[in-house]
Amino acid sequence: MELTQNLWERYGFTDNPYDTKPLSLSKAAALSVQAAYIPRGRTSSTADLLTNFLRNPGGGRIVVEGESGVGKTTFVNYHRQRWEMAAKQKLISPPGEISVREGWSERDFLLNLLASLSARLRLDLGEKAFAKDKLLSEITAIVGVRAEEGGGLSGNLTLFGFGGGLGHTRSKAVKVGEVTNEHLRDCLRRIVALVKSRGFAGVIFHLDNLELLGRKGVTTLQTFFESVRDVLQEPGAYFIFVGNAGIFQQVIVPLPRVRSIFFDTPVYLSPLSLAEVRAVIEKRYELLAVPKKEWIRPVTEKVVENLYDIFSGRIRYVMNAITSLVSHLPDSYAQSLELQQAMEMLRAIALSEAARFVQGAEREVFLQAAAMGRFTNSSLGGRVKKSKQQIQKYLKGWLKLNLVSQAERAGRNQFYEIEPHFAVLKKPAT
Ligand SMILES: Nc1ncnc2c1ncn2[C@@H]1O[C@H](COP(=O)(O)OP(=O)(O)OP(=O)(O)O)[C@@H](O)[C@H]1O
Ligand SMILES: [Mg+2]
Repeated sequence: MELTQNLWERYGFTDNPYDTKPLSLSKAAALSVQAAYIPRGRTSSTADLLTNFLRNPGGGRIVVEGESGVGKTTFVNYHRQRWEMAAKQKLISPPGEISVREGWSERDFLLNLLASLSARLRLDLGEKAFAKDKLLSEITAIVGVRAEEGGGLSGNLTLFGFGGGLGHTRSKAVKVGEVTNEHLRDCLRRIVALVKSRGFAGVIFHLDNLELLGRKGVTTLQTFFESVRDVLQEPGAYFIFVGNAGIFQQVIVPLPRVRSIFFDTPVYLSPLSLAEVRAVIEKRYELLAVPKKEWIRPVTEKVVENLYDIFSGRIRYVMNAITSLVSHLPDSYAQSLELQQAMEMLRAIALSEAARFVQGAEREVFLQAAAMGRFTNSSLGGRVKKSKQQIQKYLKGWLKLNLVSQAERAGRNQFYEIEPHFAVLKKPAT
């Protein structure tokens, strides 16, 4: 095999058109929200809802939710970008989304808000002006250290880099333990004021992947929201929390004190329509085409269509599957892959992946589960004629390996779902 770095060259592209990173806010990126975003036509009312939320002067809190891989992060990035560039009253936002981590307290939350917003200001102001600003240097001194607080459960907080180069801090390292939460809140107040003095009407904080925190059950998330309730009410700050479908109902609604400060409905994102998914992909072919060269579609439109059905419209899985296909093709192959061959390959890939984790009788049961997609202990047990205990044992292992995940509970029935990318093992559509 030739050791060239670009798998996509043979199709005429400078990079992977099916890359599933969220679209970037940076204009310099090949796939930026400016260039590559396809507006959600069918669900334009959802976009209006978020816009109206951001039109409330003074700040607010809202939840954006939807199934995994439907385009939530990208949707929020797109709107952040628009409010920063195209709005009359501009809202600034930190460069990246903030990922909420397990065990976060009010303090971790505050430190991350401060770190991310000051990283953004550092980019705007430049190193010199940034260093001159008293507040910003103070914040840098506080957050720009890898802080180790005294023992105990809440101790040991570590801040991670935020792209803005927080690691630079050498001087004036402050022990985070010496700074009170009250002081951190004061810093937040002052940095929001600073941003306003620079002509912005407020700040958007984008908190992503709430479901990661919710995995251990809703109480982890609820404790988090209870503890940060006051911070969330900072005037001028807009908090957009992104998570899996149902988070608002399961986490926020049962907490009256928290619910009362949230926008009353969550923004629910359904999957893009097939036409929109096609448009996303076609747009990327154009954006990534090698200048002045012909390009060809790595897979036919039929393949995209079929994957759209298999993955219930979740674009992340559609595009990941195509990347996987191309990675398994021989180097010399440079034509559009047809439907039948594509599906055979995807099934073979999924089978060999499954075979790494489950063998023998268990493997047969797993394949039946994959064919079902969604099942309960008894529905699977009934199908493969195994006892509840036996299925339970398998399920325990599969959950650990992330081969399945827990879906909702209906009465005494716990539903399970096969990890989405195994959906290619469902009975082939005829
Ligand atoms: N409206 C859109 N226009 C263009 N590309 C999109 C659009 N929506 C989603 N995408 C692309 O689809 C992929 C998945 O989107 P994204 O990461 O935003 O989904 P998500 O719902 O946040 O996923 P997860 O649940 O895994 O966090 C990304 O590569 C993104 O760029
Ligand atoms: Mg996301």
